[in-house]
Order: sequence, then structure tokens, then C-alpha cells
Amino acid sequence: MSPVAINFVYIVSAALFIFGLKMLSSPSTARRGNLLSALGMLLAIIATLLASGLSYGWIMLGMGIGTIIGLVSAYKVEMTQMPEMVALFNGFGGISSLLLAWAEYHQHPQVSTFIAIVAFLSAFIGGVTFTGSMVAFGKLSGKITQKAVVFKGQHLINGAILVTALLAAALFALSPANGWGYTLFILIVLVALGFGVTSTLPIGGADMPVVISLLNSYSGLAACAAGFVISNNILIVAGALVGASGIILTNIMCKAMNRSLANVLFSGFGSAVTVAEGDGPQGEVRPASAEDVYYILEAADSVVFVPGYGLAVAQAQHVVKELGDLLEANGTEVSYAIHPVAGRMPGHMNVLLAEANVPYDQLVEMDEINPRMDSVDVCVVIGANDVVNPAAIEDENSPIYGMPIIETFKAKTVIVLKRSMNPGFAGIQNALFFRPNTRMYFGDAKASIQALIAEFKDAE
Ligand code: TAP
Repeated sequence: MSPVAINFVYIVSAALFIFGLKMLSSPSTARRGNLLSALGMLLAIIATLLASGLSYGWIMLGMGIGTIIGLVSAYKVEMTQMPEMVALFNGFGGISSLLLAWAEYHQHPQVSTFIAIVAFLSAFIGGVTFTGSMVAFGKLSGKITQKAVVFKGQHLINGAILVTALLAAALFALSPANGWGYTLFILIVLVALGFGVTSTLPIGGADMPVVISLLNSYSGLAACAAGFVISNNILIVAGALVGASGIILTNIMCKAMNRSLANVLFSGFGSAVTVAEGDGPQGEVRPASAEDVYYILEAADSVVFVPGYGLAVAQAQHVVKELGDLLEANGTEVSYAIHPVAGRMPGHMNVLLAEANVPYDQLVEMDEINPRMDSVDVCVVIGANDVVNPAAIEDENSPIYGMPIIETFKAKTVIVLKRSMNPGFAGIQNALFFRPNTRMYFGDAKASIQALIAEFKDAE
């Protein structure tokens, strides 16, 4: 295939990536958007393989092994393990860019200053992405401590590592082909791999989704730089798209938690339990039985479900949909209020509810539900905690002060489904549980909802 024809296919692929990305912004088109982008990637791979001078044996072996591992892990992964899987993907993207830059430099050490700079960027960002993603994977899967590992002088050490990398890069870019060039390149690779670990370890496990989104952006930037190293246009375009979309997503998540990216990366949030037992709001809670909750729901004209991380843990999405259907059959208006950072990954609640075939028009965003919350009869909080904690708007000393929340406390009655009085991700007690209009319905969310369904069915 001629270079002109290959570049033409690349333009088609790039257009498919962009349309696919656009379609990912709505749950109703996301699936097709994903397929469209995958088609773009397939075309790009085929066009690239039709370039002359390739050693097909090795390529096919790599593709075969990769396909088997990818297929098996995609089938086996649980929905709650998705962030870990994405962390691994990002990491492998990063190491690919590092190896590509290394291989190119190894084969052609007489590179120009420009290529030396992009080779450094590809190797450095790729290396940081690889080890950073492996630490993120370890934290999310519980293989290493989830706590933020912080120690004195940490920022100084990280700063020194970064300065070393930049100095090595400057020397490398000035004369990549001399005897020191190769040693400097290896030094850059080692520093990058170390920096990925030292910069990710101080971040708490529950902040990992933000870090993963940032690492996803890094993997795109590394691929973009690698595209310049080997003069491959589609790698440059795809890398830039991943880099940009990753940073936009990171920004959206930080805004929804009302925290700056610097706070997520450097504050050591999650290095210790934020409050000691006995701190925070206290008082009497009003436990409710399945029968109590049934009578409250049965009499309600409007019910808003507010799902959180506990919905994912309990895998209660299908039973929630079943309960929602029973309520609708009883003449109740049902909707599902979605907080942008409920759960542990972007779109976590949307994905779970879509899996249970909850209609998209029943999903309402936080900004849409809050103004009419005081007219809602019953809010059913299912395994959500921080995203409904009134301290975020009422307590200036709270670590989550300023984070937008779903204002369930304004509803006429609030029913909270959780197993205990344990705090959520932020490690703080929730004043909502002690409010006079709140009833605590303790137990695993799935079992609790199943008991409610049984009550409704018994009454039929
Ligand atoms: P959390 O505040 O973490 O609370 C989840 C609650 O679910 C816990 O209090 C837990 O209480 C309950 N739970 C766990 N398993 C359960 C089960 N099987 N049945 C019933 N309840 C169960 O969750 P949230 O309200 O969704 O807030 C998310 C938090 O994660 C926010 O602080 C957010 O900033 C943070 N975060 C989110 C993201 C994204 S992108 N979503 C990224 C980074 C950080 P029990 O143990 O008592 O049952």
C-alpha cells in the first residue's frame, strides 16, 4: 500500500475516533461510539500492517498472545474491577511507548535534537505511566496497601527525581549519538520507572480512579510522542485524543469532588482514618424493618433512588429495577438520582443501572433533582454515603466541605440502606443518618431490597 493510501485510511480512522468519542458522552449512544472507535483502530492497524518491510511472524505472534489475554480477561473481569483493568491497559500503553522509543533510538542513534526530545518524552512519560499504573492496579485490587504512603521530605525527593530526569534529558538531547547518549537514555528510563512509583504511592486507594484517568492521559501523551519518534500520523492523532480526553475526565472528577488535582496528587488524602471513632455528628438513629419501609414506600407518590458505591458492592442493580417496577405499578413516580462521583469510577452508577435496563429517562442528574428535592416523598439511599452527606454544605471544617451533594435530607422521608454505621470513602460520619426524617434500613443492599420486593408481592 502506498504511503498516500495509508495516510488516507489514517484520516478515516481519525474521523471515526472523533465521532466515537463524541458518542461516548451519552449512555444511549456510548455502545455504538465504542464500536465506531474500535472500527477506526482496526482500519488503522490493517493500513499499518500493509506498509512495506514488516516482519509479519513476530507481529502475528504478539497479536495472537495479546488477543488471547485480552479476550480471557475481558470475559472474566467483574464490573467493580473495571478501574483495575483500565489501570493495566494504561500501564501497557505506557510501556509500549517507552519500548518503541528505545527500539527506535537503539536502531538509529544518530537522531536529530527534535527526535531526541520526543524520544525522551515518550520514554519518560511511558515509564511513569507504566509503574504508576501498576501501583494503581495494586492499590485498587488490594494487593498493596490502599492507604496513602506518605513520609517526610517526599515532595523534595520527587522534585529531585524530576530535576534529575530533566537534566539527563537536556544532556541527551544535546548529543544523543555520543558515547554517553545511551547511558543517559537508560538513566531516564530508570528514573521514569522510579518516579511512577514514588508519585503514585502517596495517593490513597480511593483516589485511584482520578489517578487512573490522569495516567490514561499520560499514556496518550506518551503514544503521541512515540508517533513523532517513528513518524506515524495515526499514533500522533490517537495519542493526542487520548491525552486530551483523559485530562478532561480528570478535571470533571476533581470538580465533582470539589478538590483540585494538586490536592488529589499531593495532599496524602486517605493516609489515615480522617476522624476517630466518636468524632463527628452523634445522636440517635431510627432503624427500620422491611415491613416499616414497605409501608412508607407503598404510601409514597414519588420515590427517588440514590445509588452509591454500596450498590456496586451488593450488585443490587437488578433488584432495584425490580422494586422500581413494582412501585410504578403501584402508581408511584420513580426516578434515580445520579451523583457524578458516586461509586469508584466515572459513570459507575450509570453503567450498573443500564445493565439492569433502567430506562435512561428515569435517570436524573444532581443539578436537576436538587431544586425539587423538597417535593420528593421518599429518597431511598442505596449504599451511598459521602455523596449525600449534608456536612459538605453545612460544616466548614469537614474534609468534604464544598463538594456538591445530592440533597436527600430535604426530602420528606429518607431511607438509608447500608450494613452498619461505618463511614464511606472520605472516612467521616454522616449527619444525615441522625436526622429526624431519616430511617436506617440496615443490611446488605441486595438482601434488603429483596425483602422489600417480597413484602410488595405478599401484599398483592
Ligand atoms: P461511599 O461514601 O464510599 O459510601 C459507600 C457506602 O456503601 C458505605 O458507607 C458502606 O456502608 C455502604 N456499603 C458497602 N457495601 C454495601 C452493601 N453490600 N450493602 C449496602 N451498603 C453497602 O460511596 P459514595 O456515596 O458512592 O461516594 C463515593 C466516594 O468515592 C466519594 O467520596 C467520592 O469522592 C469518592 N471517589 C469517587 C470517584 C468516582 S469517579 N466515582 C473517584 C474517586 C473517589 P457499610 O459498610 O455500613 O455498608
